[in-house]
Amino acid sequence: MAENHIGIAGTGFYLPEKVLTNADLEKMVETSDEWIIKRTGIRERRIATPEETVSSMAEIASRKALKAAGVTPEELDLIILGTFTPDNPLPAAACLLEARLGNTHAPSFDLSAACSAFLYGLELGHKLLLSGNYQTALILVSEKLSTVVNWEDRDTCVLFGDGAGAVVIKKDAARGRILDCYLGADGRKAQLMEIPAGGSAMPITHEVLDKKQNYLRMEGRETFKLAVSSMVSASKLVLERNGYTADDITWLIPHQANLRIMKAVAKGLKLPVERVYINVDRFGNMSGATIPIALAEMDQNRVLKKGDLVLMVAFGGGLTWGASLIRW
Ligand code: ACO
Repeated sequence: MAENHIGIAGTGFYLPEKVLTNADLEKMVETSDEWIIKRTGIRERRIATPEETVSSMAEIASRKALKAAGVTPEELDLIILGTFTPDNPLPAAACLLEARLGNTHAPSFDLSAACSAFLYGLELGHKLLLSGNYQTALILVSEKLSTVVNWEDRDTCVLFGDGAGAVVIKKDAARGRILDCYLGADGRKAQLMEIPAGGSAMPITHEVLDKKQNYLRMEGRETFKLAVSSMVSASKLVLERNGYTADDITWLIPHQANLRIMKAVAKGLKLPVERVYINVDRFGNMSGATIPIALAEMDQNRVLKKGDLVLMVAFGGGLTWGASLIRW
């Protein structure tokens, strides 16, 4: 079995220093601390400075993960960076990260799967390592969502934050064994969460900027329902096909979009909420970065114990979803 064993050798995360509280938002849009906490569970989120970029935040998270794994940047032979807020459209932010780390050979690319990006990246990295052609991979998500949020739109601006989370995976790592992953997507409902402009279909013009079409828009209520049902069914599928039930899960790490969604997913799985890891109250929704940041935070605080069965589950723009099982 040893030759088929890929594990998470190290984790790391970075959160910008600047804290934006619900009280701060009350001064920016017509909202209240009470509404935000009741509807989302979010109390505060982090906002990057103008100088901080997706690749700079990614570098800090990556260096921590590399150090924890005892791996040098040169040893990496694969870098997969999930993001939809790259430093610029060309080149990939993953290549900028690679240069920051001082690696000059690893194939490096960005992956666009919104909130599911970490699970997409982990599955891809896992399977490429299993091929035998790659030995050590950096899988991460870094998002600077504050640059695509319309700070005049109370429907969305209260939800999002910035941050980066990274893992180093390698063959025969002594912990964090990746067991299985199930992924899905359905583009028919892509409009539920989108940034309409800034790509080739609608390049940036003065008119686009005036209409604020370069910002993220979301149909919250419909997304909410689909998030719960997709995360529950993806979780059940990956558990069942590995011979587990929800009772076997030590920790559920759901994408941190909204506390109510996470509680509904736990209920759908008949899992006590005490076994759900929650940090959305402190950091908000950082898209695909929420799961690796949660994993790294749990690792750093020794919340994860050897042998724990961890289920990570995500849902987001695309629409995309996924569920991944690891044995810590
Ligand atoms: N402050 C005060 N009132 C508000 C605010 C606000 N910030 N935002 C909306 N409201 C109002 C609405 O205008 C509405 O008023 P009305 O009843 O007079 O029309 C009322 O509050 C209720 O609005 P809803 O949108 O129905 O509120 P809901 O309970 O659905 O909560 C939320 C909204 C938090 C956005 C929720 O729908 C949600 O979390 N959706 C899912 C988000 C998600 O999972 N996204 C996926 C990942 S994101 C990604 O991929 C990038």
